[in-house]
Amino acid sequence: MEKRAILVTRRLPGVPFGELAARFRAGDPPPDGPMPRDAFLLRSAGVSGILCTLAERVDGELMDAAGPALRVISNFAVGVNNVDVAEATRRGIRVCNTPDVLTDATADLGFALLLAAARKLSEAERFLRAGRWTCWDPWGFLGVPVAGKTLGVVGMGKIGAAVARRSRGFSMRVLYSGPRRISPAAEAELGAGYRDLDDLLAESDFVVLCVPLKPETRGLIHRERLRRMRPNAVLVNIARGEVVDEEALAQALSEGRIFGAGLDVFEKEPQVSPALLEARSAVLVPHIGSATGDARERMGRLATENLLAVLEGREPPCRVN
Ligand code: GLV
Repeated sequence: MEKRAILVTRRLPGVPFGELAARFRAGDPPPDGPMPRDAFLLRSAGVSGILCTLAERVDGELMDAAGPALRVISNFAVGVNNVDVAEATRRGIRVCNTPDVLTDATADLGFALLLAAARKLSEAERFLRAGRWTCWDPWGFLGVPVAGKTLGVVGMGKIGAAVARRSRGFSMRVLYSGPRRISPAAEAELGAGYRDLDDLLAESDFVVLCVPLKPETRGLIHRERLRRMRPNAVLVNIARGEVVDEEALAQALSEGRIFGAGLDVFEKEPQVSPALLEARSAVLVPHIGSATGDARERMGRLATENLLAVLEGREPPCRVN
């Protein structure tokens, strides 16, 4: 029997391309950078499984290009907003993702951004590296305190809960918002109080966005909501760039209407708007939430297992549809 074809779009930690290539027709070894759209369309033709990353869009056009053999789209990410899940479901294609294995790494980064923005770490480091540090300055780089302040978690899923747990070491009060309340037991364990989003924004000193990108969360933090935030508040986004109106955020930062922001994600990655690049109080990093060697290795192993399970007729560990 002829081997089935698969496509791995990129060289990825934890994904044993050689082993996969021994079992499936896998084509040339995947490139180190993202696969350009035309190559992605071309190389998808006739495949039964695709292992891809959040940098590749898997939509109806791509599924058409793949054809009827396509059984599984295994995304090397927890977020699946790059995949048209409804369309995949309609075609009977399984979509899988990599939750859990990146929860701690992503929550660590969320807290790192919170602290970095609160204490102006990026601005202070730029100053030092530019050779401008001539004398200890009692007035320089004054931050805002973290201990005892209020943390607002928008989206109390696994990552949001992990961020909330980290705040215990800082004796923070925790609020959360989301489409529904978590269980009373989970609220008690996290010491978290439910608020509707507008109230959470008005009450929190630190707001951390942990929601998946969906039609309901696109543009969730818009201009009016930014106006509800406290003058000394910090906004952290470890979710997806499109959850925030980036232009409105850049304006709020440049006008000093909030204290700062810590952003791992952007509306048009890998482009970052010039207005944000100019905002000195923003700490900006290039979508590195899950970037520990351990998390990335485990993501790759899980994405591989998801792909193999579906192709072998088993239940995949992490299915989205
Ligand atoms: C990263 O952003 C992910 O969704 O895994």
